[in-house]
Amino acid sequence: MNPSGPEAPARLLIRDLAQVVSPGGRTAPLRGAELAGVEVIADAYILCEQGRITAVGSMRQLEPLAGEVEELDGRGLSGIPGLVDCHTHACFAGDRVAEFALRASGAGYEELHAAGGGILSTVRAAREAGEAGLAAALERHVGWMRRSGTTTFEAKSGYGLDRETELAQLRAIRAAGGVPTWLGAHAVPPEFADAGPAAYVDFLIREVLPDAARLAEAADVFLERGAFDVDEAGRYLRACREAGLQLRLHGDQFTEAGAIPLAIELGARSVDHLESTGPAGIAALAGADVVGVLLPASALFLGRPMPPARALADAGAAIALATDFNPGSAFCESLPLVCSLACTQLGLAPEEALTACTVNAAHVLARADRKGRLAKGYDADIVLLDADDWRHLAYHLGGPVVHTVLEGSRPVWNSRA
Ligand code: NIG
Ligand code: FE
Repeated sequence: MNPSGPEAPARLLIRDLAQVVSPGGRTAPLRGAELAGVEVIADAYILCEQGRITAVGSMRQLEPLAGEVEELDGRGLSGIPGLVDCHTHACFAGDRVAEFALRASGAGYEELHAAGGGILSTVRAAREAGEAGLAAALERHVGWMRRSGTTTFEAKSGYGLDRETELAQLRAIRAAGGVPTWLGAHAVPPEFADAGPAAYVDFLIREVLPDAARLAEAADVFLERGAFDVDEAGRYLRACREAGLQLRLHGDQFTEAGAIPLAIELGARSVDHLESTGPAGIAALAGADVVGVLLPASALFLGRPMPPARALADAGAAIALATDFNPGSAFCESLPLVCSLACTQLGLAPEEALTACTVNAAHVLARADRKGRLAKGYDADIVLLDADDWRHLAYHLGGPVVHTVLEGSRPVWNSRA
């Protein structure tokens, strides 16, 4: 993210923390028993230099420090790694509060989309907002994410669906310090309604991909009835892979339409949603390198079944958690809330939830060597929780659990300021 505000101190000691917690080891993604293998240090300190962590340990073992060092009092607080949101649609203009109200009185999400609302209404808003409007909206949304403890975020395009607005979204995401994913194949725009999804995919590959590949790190597709089928998704993703992009898929949200086998065949980084995944999909992911990204806020917001997270974790699949922050299916920027849902609805332990939205999410974004752990050599992206037990991260349901957020040692949010 692009922090503004106070400068990062050259050396920073966060002292007397009630607890410090971090996923263990140095590898990623963590799966099986390792998913819950977090390390907790009581009465702890974190030492940072030049934006990196140089030591984490118990106060008893803290040697006297020579030279200048800024100190931060951690009494009563718990330190966790800065949270990593690996799946958002945060670069949107406008909102869909009217649609939300319609859904509250019975209208269906897919039904609204089929009638030209849903995603397509945000497409109209994005085209109208243009790059400056999108950048301003994104900046506001990034502020919300930061206050919730997110220090690294991914964001997708997919609300332009024309060359100019898709590229504008990717530029705005990069400028805001996000990890940009090109979701050109999110929906078929109105100007291709007659020509159909296959013709729209041709257009994306021919007209948008060459520039999108320079701006984005990954490509994503909505493989679903009413969006793109497995042939169209496969053609789009293969072309994106050839252009050097990592691959992601929105799959098994409403129906199992072949997303998991395609993700595995193409070596995708992740397949996301999985609310409709059955036993065969669970078994396939368990034996694959593809991460299953679970989005319980989206399932909750749409009143859909929760994804089979427990079965995936027990089978040995690599899982991550993310918000899916977007105006239609998950108007939620809070990973702490997602952790609460993971523990109350998905059957995950707080330790598993933490790993899933730190190091495993960082792996989805190809950043697990620097992000997602409180350990020597990692970026000093640190969240201090307003609790003497770090598990309040998930326990405090929707509450103000985040006290202080640091990015590269730089304070970017303080709840008391
Ligand atoms: O991940 N399902 C497709 N795309 C988004 C929702 C986008 C929207 O409704 O604006 C999702 O849920
Ligand atoms: Fe999504």
